[in-house]
Amino acid sequence: MILVTGGAGYIGSHTCVALAQAGRDFLILDNFSNSKRSVLERLSKIVDFEVRCVEGDVSDVGLVTRLLEEQKVSAVIHFAALKAVGESVEQPLRYYRNNVAGSITLSEAMRLAGVGTIVFSSSATVYGDPASVPITEDFPLCPTNPYGRTKLFTEQTLADLVTSEPDFWRVARLRYFNPAGAHESGLIGEDPQGVPNNLVPFVAQVASGQRPFLSVWGNDYPTRDGTGVRDYIHVMDLAEGHVAALEHLERCPGLVTSNLGAGRGVSVLELVGEFERASGRKIPLQIGPRRAGDVAECWADPRHAEQVLGWRAGRGLSQICKDAWLSATKIRIDDPDKG
Ligand code: NAD
Ligand code: WQD
Repeated sequence: MILVTGGAGYIGSHTCVALAQAGRDFLILDNFSNSKRSVLERLSKIVDFEVRCVEGDVSDVGLVTRLLEEQKVSAVIHFAALKAVGESVEQPLRYYRNNVAGSITLSEAMRLAGVGTIVFSSSATVYGDPASVPITEDFPLCPTNPYGRTKLFTEQTLADLVTSEPDFWRVARLRYFNPAGAHESGLIGEDPQGVPNNLVPFVAQVASGQRPFLSVWGNDYPTRDGTGVRDYIHVMDLAEGHVAALEHLERCPGLVTSNLGAGRGVSVLELVGEFERASGRKIPLQIGPRRAGDVAECWADPRHAEQVLGWRAGRGLSQICKDAWLSATKIRIDDPDKG
């Protein structure tokens, strides 16, 4: 049995689909601080069985220890975290408490229950402003905001555990680039509360008429067309990367750290063009100033994941846009909370 913390969220729910496809049993632990219970029904429809979920917090050591023992959990995939960069600047203690202390408590519960295998959601944000692209795993780590530091501190905590007990711990630290898109059914996807922070959900809301235009944050970067370049990775590719990491840990004890990206840089304008083709809608734009803290280019060298985990992203940008558009329209129509 695999325990998926934060499994009701965006990446976690897609990883549950990938786990089901790989024939693995899983149980979700989520406090629904950034997800809706209705995701569980949609997920159950996709996997064609009733998905099991316990409502609770990773910081509840008693609950987590009991779950690990009673459910005979062999490994944890740990998504549960807060992820809004701006919010982390305003509320650093909340972020350190939830993300860092939460991960430490989860690790303590795992040690108590004798479960040593964990796949951890890190982020390309740990690289901060990279000196060059593409980014390899040995680049310096220098996150520029509290959210990014919660990822770095948790990464380091997990590495210390492996050093302390190399025969017990098996740890994968996965640094995601820009997850986007949705399951091809459109039943689950990225469904942010309020104004989306990320480009793809924002563009989807402009395409569906919920927002009048996209503000492009800066067109004076030293890139092909002046706009920011990122590595958009299909969320189902990312989900399959977790299964590959889990299978790797089951074969090899110790620590593995890998970028999960598509290995291709895409500018804001290129992304918008592709989304227009996928949706058949025009995306009105306004060029605005640069967003504080943004970097010009950030994209992965994905070779380590291919060589070590035997995984690479297979879905292209048009698939990302097509699936993001389908899920944005479907979730909006099906969900009475959405207007
Ligand atoms: P999400 O907010 O959709 O999912 C996170 C889930 O964790 C939510 O369902 C939330 O309710 C739950 N959660 C939060 N704190 C919890 C706690 N203390 N106990 C139990 N449940 C808790 O986010 P996501 O986009 O699916 O991200 C998943 C992970 O990947 C996070 O760790 C995030 O930092 C990381 N990540 C995300 C991105 C991205 O762009 N989406 C990029 C890199 C890394
Ligand atoms: C992508 C590009 C923007 C919105 C963030 C976090 C990072 C990680 C992933 C978790 C940039 C531009 C965006 C808009 C725009 N999350 N943009 N107008 O900044 O690469 O990464 O999400 O770990 O930590 O920082 O992603 O989707 O916000 O932006 O022009 O309305 O789109 O400037 O070039 P980012 P993003």
